[in-house]
Amino acid sequence: MDAGNKILLIIGGGIAAYKSCELVRLIRKEGGEVTCVLTEGGAKFVTPMTLAALSENPVHTTLWDLKNEAEMGHIQLSREADLVVVCPATADLLAKMATGVADGLATTLLLATDKPVLAVPAMNVKMWEHPATQRNVAQLREDGIRVMQPDEGPMACGEFGPGRLPEPEAVMAAIRSFHAPDPLAGQPDFAPEAHRGLYGKHVLVTAGPTHEPIDPVRYIANRSSGKQGFAIAAAAAAAGARVTLVAGPVQLETPPGVDRVDVESAREMLAAVEAALPADIAIMVAAVADWRAADASGQKIKKDGSGEVPPLALAENPDILATLAKSQSRPRLLVGFAAETEHVVDHATAKRERKGADWIVANDVSGAKGQSVMGGDANTVHIVTASGVESLEPMPKPRVAAALIDRIAKEIANA
Ligand code: C5P
Repeated sequence: MDAGNKILLIIGGGIAAYKSCELVRLIRKEGGEVTCVLTEGGAKFVTPMTLAALSENPVHTTLWDLKNEAEMGHIQLSREADLVVVCPATADLLAKMATGVADGLATTLLLATDKPVLAVPAMNVKMWEHPATQRNVAQLREDGIRVMQPDEGPMACGEFGPGRLPEPEAVMAAIRSFHAPDPLAGQPDFAPEAHRGLYGKHVLVTAGPTHEPIDPVRYIANRSSGKQGFAIAAAAAAAGARVTLVAGPVQLETPPGVDRVDVESAREMLAAVEAALPADIAIMVAAVADWRAADASGQKIKKDGSGEVPPLALAENPDILATLAKSQSRPRLLVGFAAETEHVVDHATAKRERKGADWIVANDVSGAKGQSVMGGDANTVHIVTASGVESLEPMPKPRVAAALIDRIAKEIANA
C-alpha cells in the first residue's frame, strides 16, 4: 500500500478484537493511516485508549457524540477513508450489514460509505456455518463487499473448525491487494478502463495438477506447476476481484488477497468449485487428470519380485469445465485453457464448442520456440472467443495473466 492510504477500521465485539491492535500496527508500519471505530461489544475487548495510542488518531465509539458530529459528521468519517475494514466482523455485524441495519456508529458508517469494504469474519464454527450467516455472507458478496474466508483451527471457545480470524498478516495482504498497483500499468496494452475493473466481482480460478491415488504412495497426475493459474488469480485480485483459487498440489505461495482452497483429486476439485459458486467469472487453468485409478488401494501395492505387473483399471474423471458450463449457476464468463502440441488454434476452437466455454486460452506446449511452458516462466497463448482468435506474443506468465484479466475486465464492462 502507498504511504497516506487511509483505512477506517471497524472493530466488532469478539475475542479476536485483540488482533485488530496488531493490524493497526501493521498498517501504520506500511505508512497507512488508520481511524478506529469501536462497536459497544468491541469496546468490551479492547479499549479506545489502546487503539488511540497505536493509531495516533481519535477513536470513535458512538453516533451520539455531538462534538464530533459538529466537527466531522459520521457521513464524512465513512467517506474520507480509501478503504473500510471490518475486523473482526462478528455474525451480528455481518447480519446487520447484509440487511442494512444502521443502529449504531459502525453500522451507520457501513451503510453510508461509498468506499470498498473488506470484512474479516471471526466467530464460533457453528455460527459461521449456520445457514443464516452463510446467507448473509453470500448477500454481502453479491453486494460487492469483500468477505474473507475465516481460518480453520482451534477456537477460543474450545471448538475446532472454520471461524478463526485470519492472522493480521493475511488481513494486511488483503488490504494491500486493494491498493496494489495495476498489473498492467506501464505495459504497452495498458487500458485505463480496465483499472480495478473487477471490483465487486467473484472470480473462481482452478490451478495446478490433480493427483489421483493408485495407492497411498503412488498417483497419476498431469504435468503442471500451477504458475499460470496462480498468476491469473493474483492479477484478478489486483484488479479488485474477490478471488477463490482452487489449487491442486503445488509448491506456490498464495497471492495476496486470494482465498485459496487446496485439493488433491479431480473429484475434490469439482466439489470445491461447486462449493465456491456463485461466481461471475471462472477461469479453469488446472491440468486435471482425465482418469483416476478405478479401485485405488487402501494399502501400498507390494512388488513381490515375480515380475508380474499389477493391473491398473482406470475410470474417467468428471470434466469440471464442462460440468460448470451446464450448471444452473454457470458463471457469466467461463474461460477454459487448452494445452496443445499441434493445430493449437483448431483444437482450441473445437474444445470451446465441445465444453461449452465462452473462451478457450490455447497454449502451445510443443516446446517450439525454445520455450518450456510446463514449469517454465513464459507462455505463448491464443485467446479463442466466439468472435475470433487473438494471438499474443510469447511473454512471462504474469504478463499473460495481466493481459487476460484486462480482456476479461473489458468484456464484463461491455456486457
Ligand atoms: O480436455 P482438456 O483437458 O484439454 O481441457 C482443458 C480445459 O478443461 C482446462 O480449462 C481444464 O482446466 C479443464 N478441465 C476440467 N476438468 C477436467 C479436464 C479438463 O475442468 N476433467
